[in-house]
Amino acid sequence: MNCNIEITPGLYYVGANDYRTQKFEALWTLPHGVSYNSYLMVDEKVALIDTIEAKYTETFLTNIRNILGSRGIDYLIINHMEPDHSASIAAVRRAYPDVQIVGNPKTIDMINGFYGICHNMLVVKEGDTLHLGEKDLTFYPIPMVHWPETMATYCPQEKILFSGDAFGCFGALVGGVIDEDICCDIYWDEMYRYYASIVGKYGVPVQNALKKLAPLPIDIICTTHGPVWKKYTKKVIDIYDRLSRHESEKGVVIVYGSMYGNTARMAEEIAQAIGSQGIDKVVLYDISTVDKSVVLRDIFRYNSLIIGSATYNTGLFPDIEALLSALRNREVKSKVYGCFGSFSWAGRAVKELTAFGNDMHWTMPGAPVEMRQGFSDAIIGQCRELAKSIAAELKKC
Ligand SMILES: Cc1cc2nc3c(=O)[nH]c(=O)nc-3n(C[C@H](O)[C@H](O)[C@H](O)COP(=O)(O)O)c2cc1C
Ligand SMILES: [Fe+2]
Ligand SMILES: [Fe+2]
Repeated sequence: MNCNIEITPGLYYVGANDYRTQKFEALWTLPHGVSYNSYLMVDEKVALIDTIEAKYTETFLTNIRNILGSRGIDYLIINHMEPDHSASIAAVRRAYPDVQIVGNPKTIDMINGFYGICHNMLVVKEGDTLHLGEKDLTFYPIPMVHWPETMATYCPQEKILFSGDAFGCFGALVGGVIDEDICCDIYWDEMYRYYASIVGKYGVPVQNALKKLAPLPIDIICTTHGPVWKKYTKKVIDIYDRLSRHESEKGVVIVYGSMYGNTARMAEEIAQAIGSQGIDKVVLYDISTVDKSVVLRDIFRYNSLIIGSATYNTGLFPDIEALLSALRNREVKSKVYGCFGSFSWAGRAVKELTAFGNDMHWTMPGAPVEMRQGFSDAIIGQCRELAKSIAAELKKC
């Protein structure tokens, strides 16, 4: 984006859209792009809040210069050190040699480690306030959302929270930056996907952050990815609250790995049977073709998960194994769970999927279905029984 947008008097958006990166963190697809947001607060003093990804440093500096002209920047506030936000710190320092860099002790240490910058730093702690003139900025560390140094910055006069990655989402900003000025349809799915992919492991720290920030009246959230939240502030806080408590909607995700289609057939049978039990939210994914972040998104969204796998080299289908690892890593909670799978000479997949459900302490209302070699009426019956048990459990929720 090559435009500057005034959010409130004296507060400007100076970030950029990225439509070129194919995978965020080299992992997560970006069908709608992503924005790296940075904000410039112009008062008696000038404060820049966060920087942006290295590919867009020149756009970023141009955006800043278009607003400031020959004026300098007094403070560069760093809420988060992940390189999608910190990569332009050195460039800002080169362009504005007198800028004082503001961060908590962990941030300051990382700035030295990443970029070798250690002079003219202002170390802040919880509740410290920087007076810019008419406006103040107060700092609230929110550790592990999703790095240890993460911090939120709050402007009490405008009731604006600069939240770092918290309340962020994938999706570039099209036609404006404030939610009320643009169509927000794409951002809700993209928020679930962003949360599940990036923040999903850190539910407890997100809850701690929400509790810490709860006393602050917040009208506007300026996050580092996605729209500036003004119209939907409450909705966005609510989504992050629910996701971080692992609260989900009624619905079933069926995901399977299948080399030759036998396990896929079981998945179809189970999906049909669940639908016929009156559960209308059923999504079915072949793990080998689907975007993994979409599967994670829906696992965070829905309260039931059924995983299937063919036995592959005495273990799970490799992509299913990777999915289990991602779910274990995120400590995904309270699923109504079922599993199924197949083998030809020595079954392994269903044993591992069953053990996984137990390890995760999920509710397993139905018997796992294990197929040897080919499909049969008996297997169809067992798939239907599993579906019935899952549906019955969901009806209790
Ligand atoms: C590469 C490969 C490795 C396999 N490894 C095993 C194995 O270790 N143990 C086993 O019982 N079956 C093994 N099988 C057989 C499959 O698990 C079995 O045929 C299964 O029903 C295939 O399901 P699908 O049609 O969904 O791919 C293997 C099959 C392939 C193609
Ligand atoms: Fe981040
Ligand atoms: Fe980020």
